[in-house]
Amino acid sequence: MSNNYLSGKEIRAIAKENKKVMKRLEAQKYRKCDESEYITEMKESSNILEIDELHTYFFTEQGVVKAVNGVSFDVPQNKTVGVVGESGCGKSVTSMSVMRLLQGPTGQIYSGEIRFKSKDKDGTEKVFDIAKMPMADIHKIRGNQIAMIFQEPMTSLNPVFTIGQQLDEVTFIHNPEASKEDAKAKSIEMLNLVGIAMPERVYNAFPHELSGGMRQRVMISMALASNPRLIIADEPTTALDVTIQAQILDLLRDLKTKIDGSIMLITHDLGIIAEMADYVIVMYAGRVIEKGTVDEIFHNPLHPYTIGLQKSKPTLNSDSETLFNIPGNVPNPINMPAYCYFKERCSKCTKKCSGEYPEMIQVSPTHFVACHLYDEE
Ligand SMILES: Nc1ncnc2c1ncn2[C@@H]1O[C@H](COP(=O)(O)OP(=O)(O)OP(=O)(O)O)[C@@H](O)[C@H]1O
Ligand code: SF4
Ligand SMILES: [Mg+2]
Repeated sequence: MSNNYLSGKEIRAIAKENKKVMKRLEAQKYRKCDESEYITEMKESSNILEIDELHTYFFTEQGVVKAVNGVSFDVPQNKTVGVVGESGCGKSVTSMSVMRLLQGPTGQIYSGEIRFKSKDKDGTEKVFDIAKMPMADIHKIRGNQIAMIFQEPMTSLNPVFTIGQQLDEVTFIHNPEASKEDAKAKSIEMLNLVGIAMPERVYNAFPHELSGGMRQRVMISMALASNPRLIIADEPTTALDVTIQAQILDLLRDLKTKIDGSIMLITHDLGIIAEMADYVIVMYAGRVIEKGTVDEIFHNPLHPYTIGLQKSKPTLNSDSETLFNIPGNVPNPINMPAYCYFKERCSKCTKKCSGEYPEMIQVSPTHFVACHLYDEE
């Protein structure tokens, strides 16, 4: 490819190659198969989720966008794992991969494993590789064992139905035999649980009649109606003002205890991570560049990018939009270099940094970093 221009021939070659790969991956997604094909084992039995070398790509006309480019991290049982990194680094694409919500045929899990410890209604535990599950079987985990809370609840609530109708629906999905009265009782109970003071009124309201914080509470109550083992919250408080934000975070924390589950919390706000997370995953340009306990990442950050994040860290009450003002840009996701992706922005870069992409180095039982500064000589 010459500079940023693609010739007609190059465009046709990309389209042809994309079509071939997308066709193969779509067929894989919609195949019929026996459960045994995607049953696997956890590497560590105390984990509920293990993401292993996940590659999620978008096959665009300009080329393949490697949005998630070899991401590995674990979510232990009963823990909160914070995923942090600047806009476009692949946080949402990682969570959409776990939920298998990627828009095909363009967006595809290309390779890697997403191991999830599932529990049947009768209590039997099985480990599924979500990345290999056919779409027809995704209902076994999505919306019941794993629930997702999005940034803007208005887009996930249906504007033409009342909150009550939408909440009741969740009960009917999980228990088709439930009576109307049972469903309503359950909905009111859920609204109570998420701290809604006048549940009857909210039950009869339409989404637009509620404030942003109320809508997020409703979304959380829906996510919880199914007793999930894992909640994925993608920027759950970004659209809310700080006081409401704090209330929603308290709510999430309480609920985690109540359902005895785990949370994968995606945010670009380090203050939220410090307050909520047990472990932190730092992502940069589709890769994990550092991970560790919240203590390790905050008190002993090692990667120059993580150190930069700490410096640009605002207080909990400041505007999160001002985060991450490390100078420079992320490389073009279609043409990632062979060397460290942070090189153009790194002030500590040495000769070695023009060589291969740095490997993940273990510096403590829980602390890992991908940077040549820590290579063993
Ligand atoms: N449908 C798509 N087609 C092509 N590229 C996409 C698509 N969706 C996402 N991407 C690319 O994938 C990369 C990761 O996006 P992602 O949404 O995961 O970022 P993020 O870390 O969640 O950012 P933010 O903090 O802004 O939410 C970006 O480079 C983005 O441009
Ligand atoms: S590998 Fe080199 S360029 Fe990359 S973050 Fe480390 S020091 Fe900086
Ligand atoms: Mg996102």
